[in-house]
Amino acid sequence: MPANIVIGTQWGDEGKGKVIDILASRAQVVVRSQGGNNAGHTVVSGGQTYKLHLVPSGILYPDTMCLVGAGVVLDPKDFIGEIDEMERRGISTKNLKIDPRAHVVMPWHITLDGLSETFRGGNDIGTTKRGIGPTYMDKYERCGIRVCDLIDPVLLEQKARSTGELKNKIITAVYGGQAHDLDAVIAEYKAYGERLKPYVADVSVLTYEAYKAGKTILFEGAQATLLDIDFGTYPFVTSSHPLSGGVCVGTGVGPKMIDNIIGVAKAYTTRVGKGPFPTELFDETGETIRNKGGEFGTTTGRPRRTGWFDAVIVRHSVRVNGLDGLAINKLDTLSGIGDLKICTGYVKPDGTKLHDFPSSLEELAECAPIYEEFPGFDDDISACRKFEDLPETCRKYIERLEELCECKVVMVGVGPDRDQQIERQ
Ligand code: IMP
Repeated sequence: MPANIVIGTQWGDEGKGKVIDILASRAQVVVRSQGGNNAGHTVVSGGQTYKLHLVPSGILYPDTMCLVGAGVVLDPKDFIGEIDEMERRGISTKNLKIDPRAHVVMPWHITLDGLSETFRGGNDIGTTKRGIGPTYMDKYERCGIRVCDLIDPVLLEQKARSTGELKNKIITAVYGGQAHDLDAVIAEYKAYGERLKPYVADVSVLTYEAYKAGKTILFEGAQATLLDIDFGTYPFVTSSHPLSGGVCVGTGVGPKMIDNIIGVAKAYTTRVGKGPFPTELFDETGETIRNKGGEFGTTTGRPRRTGWFDAVIVRHSVRVNGLDGLAINKLDTLSGIGDLKICTGYVKPDGTKLHDFPSSLEELAECAPIYEEFPGFDDDISACRKFEDLPETCRKYIERLEELCECKVVMVGVGPDRDQQIERQ
């Protein structure tokens, strides 16, 4: 399968990193298309742990080309920090490239992310405060600073000064915050531009050339479907398109190039940040899932909210992403927690039943889940490598997920290690 996309189907943190690592080991090119350092995943390789936020996961393979597409928002300070860390640990970054069209996260974006969240008070979004939303705002306002500006000291000076003056006015006059010292920012970012210059290349062209040469390409998604700015739980979403369609616009490739789209889901549901979550568990089972599954944010360390698998959500993801297959992760976390539930649909207070995920958050907030119950399992499934090795209760659970989500389950995760994965054809 030459061009594969891996997408999150829920609210993020589905364990995409593991599926991406498995597929990255078979790819010659790995591409990031959207989001920024709000994403994060941990790769364990050769007994070493690497925390990646912006650098694509193929970086651990010396011959794999790692590309950061135009749709990504790049915090140069963090990106350089990741490059330095890799080089310090003997990992070469010679195959790492960034598209000149990618927008740059400037210090005022981070400041404004924090200030606007504080201003919203109890109605805050619960962002990662990495400046992601304000950077995308400037992109669409058409006053953003791009990587091609960052590496040109004259353009950077001009653009950072004019935008910076406006942003300082907003920070001080609207929010009562502290202005940024523009001379210091410009000097700092000029140095970042100088440092990043050798990494800049047209990612759309590189990806297309790799495609024409028949290379295997992996597009690694960040965030997930329900965090999509249009098809997620707006406004509790991120500011990009973490959908399969977002890969095409965020890289600069056509949809006909894509062969296979894999959606990753957990065997249950989690979310960080605010917003309605119909299958959320507030009891001991929810706490057990959180602790057993290590459900604490990679980027922020925040405890994640936990709940039962919601087939309405994953069905929505199957449709909006055109999924070819589902990877169900962390099935082992459900061992020993008692009987299991799957949400098959929603019911509203007036008795109306919903099969499809509603567009309105207010409607979602009043939805109660309709559950199907399954006997639980206590077996240790971590050594299972074939679907047939799983206990019957697990197989039935997965087969029902396939029916309800209308998509084949092609992978099942049974433990944290890369090899603790069942692959089905
Ligand atoms: P932002 O992307 O920092 O603007 O945050 C917007 C929302 O997306 C918040 O609820 C974040 O917690 C959530 N979010 C952003 N990135 C991720 C991710 O990689 N995993 C899970 N949630 C995320």
